[in-house]
Amino acid sequence: MADALISASGLRKSFGPTAALRGIDLDVARGEVLAVMGPSGSGKSTLIHCLAGVLAPDEGTVTIDGTDLTSLSADARARFRLERIGFVFQFGQLLPDLSARDNVALPLLMGGARRRAAVATADHWLGRLGLADQAGKSPGDMSGGQAQRVAIARALATEPSVVFADEPTGSLDSLSAETVLEAMLEAARESATTVVLITHDARTAAHADREVIVRDGRLSGAAAVAR
Ligand SMILES: Nc1ncnc2c1ncn2[C@@H]1O[C@H](COP(=O)(O)OP(=O)(O)OP(=O)(O)O)[C@@H](O)[C@H]1O
Ligand SMILES: [Mg+2]
Repeated sequence: MADALISASGLRKSFGPTAALRGIDLDVARGEVLAVMGPSGSGKSTLIHCLAGVLAPDEGTVTIDGTDLTSLSADARARFRLERIGFVFQFGQLLPDLSARDNVALPLLMGGARRRAAVATADHWLGRLGLADQAGKSPGDMSGGQAQRVAIARALATEPSVVFADEPTGSLDSLSAETVLEAMLEAARESATTVVLITHDARTAAHADREVIVRDGRLSGAAAVAR
């Protein structure tokens, strides 16, 4: 793929005797929204952890925007993640005792932003996700869908090149899931952020530009077929 932002080749990863990834090649274009589907235990989370540099694959390479993550030290990889990659996980990633605003500001502060600038950016992204009036509340006092939108605001606020989302709406009912997903994709598309989204839900996947299916640690089926 000529304009690939993410380029993975020959990815293999085992956990003890379990071969979670058995040779995956995948390119994701700049600005593309890619849905990753497949049965439970097929290797989806392992795949995005390797793509994002959270896990080092046993074999294969991952390049993001020209940087070969697999050649970086663990420290350099962590710094790259902080600066270039956003994450949305399903559960437990927000700090319950901090306000929504401080949760979103945290990665900005870790990246060296001044407090005033970090808070202004946090408020901006909370506003974009429809949470302007919730900024002072802690996630524990919010609905599940509101808290998920805070997590999305946090992932987008650093203006990463790519956001990885592991079933970001998996714990929500279908109406809230739709709203949260639309808010995330609209914000991502406006800033031309590349999105790699794991989902079990075909309706969610239908919002993507393309979908790939992971089966038994390999990409199968419509892997290379664009919509
Ligand atoms: N840290 C780990 N230690 C041992 N085995 C693991 C670990 N992480 C994943 N596995 C195994 O690797 C395989 C792939 O797991 P993975 O979490 O990638 O699946 P998944 O497709 O994300 O599943 P789900 O849809 O249930 O989240 C599974 O067999 C799983 O049990
Ligand atoms: Mg998973």
